[in-house]
Amino acid sequence: MSLRGSVFLLMFCSGVCQIPNFGCRPGTPYSQRPFYMAGDVLIGGLFDIHIYFKTEAFYFSSPPHLQPRKISMLLEDFYNFLSLVFAVDKINRNPKILPNVTLGYNVYDSYVDLFRTVQGAVRIYSGNTKQFPNYNCDKYSVLAAVIDGMASPFSIQYSNIFSIYKHAQLSFISQDPIQNDKRQFPYFYRAVPSEKTLYSAILTLLNYFGWTWIGILCPDDDSTISAIKDIKKMFEEGGGCIEFIKVVPAINNYNPERIMDIKYTIANSTANVILVYGSKNYIYYLEQNVFISTIPGKVWIHTAESSFRMLITLNYTHINGSLHLNMHKVEIPDFIKFVQEVDPKRFPTGRTFTTWWDELCQNRCPFNSRRRNCTGVESGRIIDYSHCNLRYTAMSYSVYNSVYIVAHALHEMYQETLSKRLGDRNKLKFQDLKPWKLHRFLKKVNFTNTMGQRIYFNDDGIPTGYDIYNMAYLPNGTIVSQNVGCFSGDGTSGKQLNINEKAIIWERTFSKTPRSVCSEKCPPGKRKSVFKGKPVCCYDCLPCPEGEYSNKTDADICTRCPEDQWSNKVKTACSPMIITYLSSNDDIGIALSLMVLIGFFLSAGVLGIFIKYQNTPIVKANNRHLSYLLLTSIMFSFLCCQIFIGRPDPLICFSQQSIFGITFSVSVSSLLAKTFVVVVAFNATKPGNNLRKWTGAQLPKYIVLSCSAIQVSICSLWLVISPPYTQYDKKSEPGTIIVQCNEGSVIAFYAILGYFCILASICFVFAFLARKLPDTFNDAKLITFSMLVFFSVWVFFILTSHNAKGTSVVTVEVFAILASSSGLLTCMFAPKCYIIIIKPEKNQKKNLVTRAFD
Ligand SMILES: *[C@@H]1O[C@H](CO)[C@@H](O)[C@H](O)[C@H]1NC(C)=O
Ligand SMILES: *[C@@H]1O[C@H](CO)[C@@H](O)[C@H](O)[C@H]1NC(C)=O
Ligand SMILES: *[C@@H]1O[C@H](CO)[C@@H](O)[C@H](O)[C@H]1NC(C)=O
Ligand SMILES: *[C@@H]1O[C@H](CO)[C@@H](O)[C@H](O)[C@H]1NC(C)=O
Ligand SMILES: *[C@@H]1O[C@H](CO)[C@@H](O)[C@H](O)[C@H]1NC(C)=O
Ligand SMILES: *[C@@H]1O[C@H](CO)[C@@H](O)[C@H](O)[C@H]1NC(C)=O
Ligand SMILES: *[C@@H]1O[C@H](CO)[C@@H](O)[C@H](O)[C@H]1NC(C)=O
Ligand SMILES: *[C@@H]1O[C@H](CO)[C@@H](O)[C@H](O)[C@H]1NC(C)=O
Repeated sequence: MSLRGSVFLLMFCSGVCQIPNFGCRPGTPYSQRPFYMAGDVLIGGLFDIHIYFKTEAFYFSSPPHLQPRKISMLLEDFYNFLSLVFAVDKINRNPKILPNVTLGYNVYDSYVDLFRTVQGAVRIYSGNTKQFPNYNCDKYSVLAAVIDGMASPFSIQYSNIFSIYKHAQLSFISQDPIQNDKRQFPYFYRAVPSEKTLYSAILTLLNYFGWTWIGILCPDDDSTISAIKDIKKMFEEGGGCIEFIKVVPAINNYNPERIMDIKYTIANSTANVILVYGSKNYIYYLEQNVFISTIPGKVWIHTAESSFRMLITLNYTHINGSLHLNMHKVEIPDFIKFVQEVDPKRFPTGRTFTTWWDELCQNRCPFNSRRRNCTGVESGRIIDYSHCNLRYTAMSYSVYNSVYIVAHALHEMYQETLSKRLGDRNKLKFQDLKPWKLHRFLKKVNFTNTMGQRIYFNDDGIPTGYDIYNMAYLPNGTIVSQNVGCFSGDGTSGKQLNINEKAIIWERTFSKTPRSVCSEKCPPGKRKSVFKGKPVCCYDCLPCPEGEYSNKTDADICTRCPEDQWSNKVKTACSPMIITYLSSNDDIGIALSLMVLIGFFLSAGVLGIFIKYQNTPIVKANNRHLSYLLLTSIMFSFLCCQIFIGRPDPLICFSQQSIFGITFSVSVSSLLAKTFVVVVAFNATKPGNNLRKWTGAQLPKYIVLSCSAIQVSICSLWLVISPPYTQYDKKSEPGTIIVQCNEGSVIAFYAILGYFCILASICFVFAFLARKLPDTFNDAKLITFSMLVFFSVWVFFILTSHNAKGTSVVTVEVFAILASSSGLLTCMFAPKCYIIIIKPEKNQKKNLVTRAFD
């Protein structure tokens, strides 16, 4: 005997055995056994028919089974037993299943009590109404299997103890997934699916309505706690969050403080959906102690069926727009007729049973009466409502299936044995069959029951879907209990939820389908910002930063736009960046171009006038060739503005600053040459000075050439060492690409700028000194003045270009070029043109005091 068996025997004999010595002794006669029907083959059964209520706390002062307690009948669950009787009768009448074999049953009431469960089981295995462990006292029939109608914890305990006998245990209640483990529970079968299907149904339902924020109430037994753990894990993997899980102490464990805490938690919760994971007795207990349904604004999802009896005793409150997940059931044809017509004398006749049958005669259900014709006297007892709910005749459908499963397996086993013993068919005694050989046939069971449902086992039990019922109590007193959907899925094949959402009646606080979320969804353009330490379903919505976007709701992160794109204003998409540069189509560009043209034609005009009047004194004064050169370089300065306007390409960037620098150094050096011409001319008139000899036409030429050559070499150096290039600037201005020229070397840029400014300073100094020199057409004054203008323009440029950004740098530079060129043009040539055109009389030789060279 295994260790477990010995422990069991010890336990049994210390507290349970009434008879100290072992061996079979006569028990109650077969005819007087309460839930017994003789047969060749017996189906054992442990059914919850009554329940023990402990009325006092447990003080270890007396054996547990002698504690004070109250017994009450589980009125609806008695249908489970009746269903077994009905099925057995039906099989015995059916010549196609187990012909020549009579099926019987031997059922014990487990009283929702472990002691009575173990006692009942031992009695089943002993074949006697007294318990003789390891003895079989029944000589006439053989026990085929035990149908178990207990909740998971007891069912598991039962397996642990009685699997030593290797009999099949077939449950129609226990759904704990742990029992799927074939190594731990090799002889366990179930006529219902495990709770995994229920998990899927719950999660699919929550997902369907988008309820991601829920609360859970559940009793504190191991099976439920592990179920809730699994549900929580799967729900959170699917993106849901649980606001609270309240393990409400189970029946017999009243604790006012915890109950108060639960009430407050529910009342203060923001989740609109609360899952009540427990049996109907548990809900009954919750309603009576916590009054959960008096809390408005919640959608209750119940995993237990609502019984009519409970509805009425609870004033219908807990069904206000609730959803109930009920295992799919089919009505057994003729079962109700059987209940109405069967002779109650076949069954035990205790007080509770008499009441049960009486009430079936007198029931006054609001609808769906299951009334029985009674011959007896009406007792006038309080009317109960146990017989009202036709659809939910407890688990009778599963019990019915369980009996058929055993019968079909037995049938197959019988057939196989018969075929092996063809010769002496009559010698076959059913008692010779060993019950543990039944497993092979049980596993292979596959038949269609009378209701057209295919019955077979998968790893999880018998695949069964769930129906979703919506129950509501309308103000006019009508109870609505409607099937609003179903979940079909057995864990292996496809899972599918069908819901008729329009038909659902919600609690009156909700005008439309309720929502239950912690935070509303973030619209596109925003992202979720989860608070540390808070559930992931609770978050703020933050707008995406510039350059990033989110185009879906509830985005976790904003996505960066591609390189050359930028997010739109609402940050929901990216659009290509705007490319900017100083365009000739812009207003500024057009204005600048216009000014360039005007300047260019003005200087061209002036050049024309000078050439036309080239022999007049005013033109001839101070070297007219220098004037032509100056005018030409001014014309080029104007023109070179044009290469700053428009989209810069590599060639333009490469050359523009150099062209500008060289043009300007030509202008300034010709001015410098002019200044020298004045100075030299004056000094040359002084006696004894031989400057004149080499100042003829040669000096100005050398000055211009050498000064420009320096600038050219600076530029060449720049272009060779660190040439300017085209740059796409995406950073300075959000959303735009600024196409601009990068100088390559800022030093070089300032060097060319500085170089012609140095030239200009030298020019200024000499011109200033020479301004008083007596000469009618002395250019020195004009040069001084134009150099002042020139300086102020470039100082202004250097100051502003530091602060300018993007295209305005170019604009400022173009403006500076325009301004300085115009300044030169105006200061140098306006007075002369005035004299040439308006006052030609002043442009006479006689007015010349001193002759200048030309
Ligand atoms: C049932 O038993 C009778 C006699 O005992 C026998 O004639 C008959 O063939 C049996 N039927 C089956 C299906 O075994
Ligand atoms: C919950 O609400 C109740 C009133 O309904 C209040 O007395 C209690 O302090 C609240 N509890 C919490 C934790 O906010
Ligand atoms: C149900 O209603 C009756 C009277 O109408 C009341 O006495 C009882 O407390 C109510 N029960 C519940 C659970 O609200
Ligand atoms: C009950 O009795 C009435 C009349 O006595 C009869 O019409 C009805 O069919 C009976 N119902 C059942 C279920 O026997
Ligand atoms: C059960 O039997 C039916 C028809 O005989 C067959 O289609 C089905 O695949 C079987 N199921 C299993 C699980 O063996
Ligand atoms: C109560 O109201 C519902 C719909 O509002 C209606 O279908 C039902 O017939 C009413 N019941 C009674 C008894 O008036
Ligand atoms: C809920 O219950 C109250 C009474 O407790 C009732 O007035 C109300 O109409 C019920 N029904 C719904 C759908 O809210
Ligand atoms: C969001 O943007 C991505 C990448 O640009 C694109 O593939 C996807 O289709 C967009 N989704 C929606 C809903 O616009």
